[in-house]
Amino acid sequence: MATATKTFKNFIGGEWVDAASGETFETTSPANGDVLGVFPRSGAEDVDRAVEAAKAAYEDWRLVPAPHRGEILFRFGRLLADHKDELAELMAREMGKVLPEAAGDVQEAIDMSFYMGGEGRRLFGHTTPSELRDKFNMSVRQPIGVIGVITPWNFPIAIPSWKIAPALVCGNTIVFKPATDTPLLGERFVELLVEAGVPAGVINIVHGGGGAVGDRLVRHPDVPVITLTGSRETGIEVMRNAAENLKHIHLELGGKNAIIVLDDADLDLAVEGIVWSAFGTSGQRCTAASRVIVQRGVYGELQGRLVGAAEQLRLGPGWEQGVDVGPVINKRALEKIHSYTEIGKDEGAKLLTGGEAAGGDGLGDGNFYRPTIFGDVDPQMRVAQEEIFGPTTALIPVRDVDEAIRVSNGIEYGLSSSIFTRDVNTAFRAMRDLEAGITYINAGTIGAEVHLPFGGTKNTGNGHREAGQAALDVFTEWKSIYVDYSGKLQKAQIDTAE
Ligand code: UN1
Repeated sequence: MATATKTFKNFIGGEWVDAASGETFETTSPANGDVLGVFPRSGAEDVDRAVEAAKAAYEDWRLVPAPHRGEILFRFGRLLADHKDELAELMAREMGKVLPEAAGDVQEAIDMSFYMGGEGRRLFGHTTPSELRDKFNMSVRQPIGVIGVITPWNFPIAIPSWKIAPALVCGNTIVFKPATDTPLLGERFVELLVEAGVPAGVINIVHGGGGAVGDRLVRHPDVPVITLTGSRETGIEVMRNAAENLKHIHLELGGKNAIIVLDDADLDLAVEGIVWSAFGTSGQRCTAASRVIVQRGVYGELQGRLVGAAEQLRLGPGWEQGVDVGPVINKRALEKIHSYTEIGKDEGAKLLTGGEAAGGDGLGDGNFYRPTIFGDVDPQMRVAQEEIFGPTTALIPVRDVDEAIRVSNGIEYGLSSSIFTRDVNTAFRAMRDLEAGITYINAGTIGAEVHLPFGGTKNTGNGHREAGQAALDVFTEWKSIYVDYSGKLQKAQIDTAE
């Protein structure tokens, strides 16, 4: 289908505007190269204007009662639901994921909007007794100011919602830089926020690259908080460049997630969970299962079944019915994924299936890569240590549960983890000992729900979590308030009231 190429703008202070430089870039479909839109290639000047607008809007937005801010999110959630099919179709075209997953991505944003809309009537602080008579103590959450939101292309509607919905309900204003691979979805996200009633200046979108737009946001003295989902390398750079201003930095970075399959596992279930977690979204999730750690008793059988299942998967454009695996995001990603196939082979891992780009048969020019499984992988090999972000997984044989947990933990990341076992004692050990922000029992590594904290340990992040109640800690500062109604000066720790 030929899509008419439309030109889009930034949204700053309630107005749709071009980049100051007048430069542009295109967004194309990873499935067939179609140009879907032309966007402003913005720079520091555009960021500065957006920050100025967001800073001005903050002065009133912080005073809007939180329940009213929440009502806007309820309206936004309903608008997302009304536009779910349209957004899913657009996502299949711009980002590449298959329609059911694209609809799931939008649903995650609907869920988050409703959840955070409800926070408008909670945002609980605490009250607690004072150590002195006639004195009242409480703590409240306060908004922080302008939040710089930098999002990736792999969840182009869900991830912006994880950041923007809580930031808004807490009373902050936003400068949003969506990924340059998915600006059209970022644009639609903002249009719907505006339709839901977010006032001018409260939400601003500035399109462009990390080097120009992202970096300026990170260094801008009037942006006290940066929330980024991206690579470990970008995360480190952001922290470094923001250090000068002692910003709050919330990072959601890589993963090298493993599924453990023990001898007593339900193998049918494990195969399904692995295929879904390794090849869903073409493996382009931070939570994707790029390692499968298998106890030797079931290794042979599991390997055979997995290869069979992977070879059944149908590749194609995400919008076609019956397609299981869509394209990967761009040619660079395709090359990176393939380079890991070469690395794996050079390291001596056994390529069991896949290992090549796929073309022909209706796949045309798209960035398709065959679901790839390596067998007999040593836990120290690069294919078992480094994030590939593609449809590649590595099977690692182990002797027992102790070795399985050791291998699962033996990486620099700590996002998601999983174990298939029917033994309740083993399951509880895994819940305790797997070093990760998320552990699944008898399910794959993907499928996080919005009302629980999402994030990881070690190099996956810097100790923060998004989603759930934990998100509120990123977007608010605590204030402790002491009200003395005794009429005299009472000194804490010195005057002892009885
Ligand atoms: C991500 O890949 O960055 O649990 C997010 C999941 C999804 C979110 C993934 N709900 O896989």
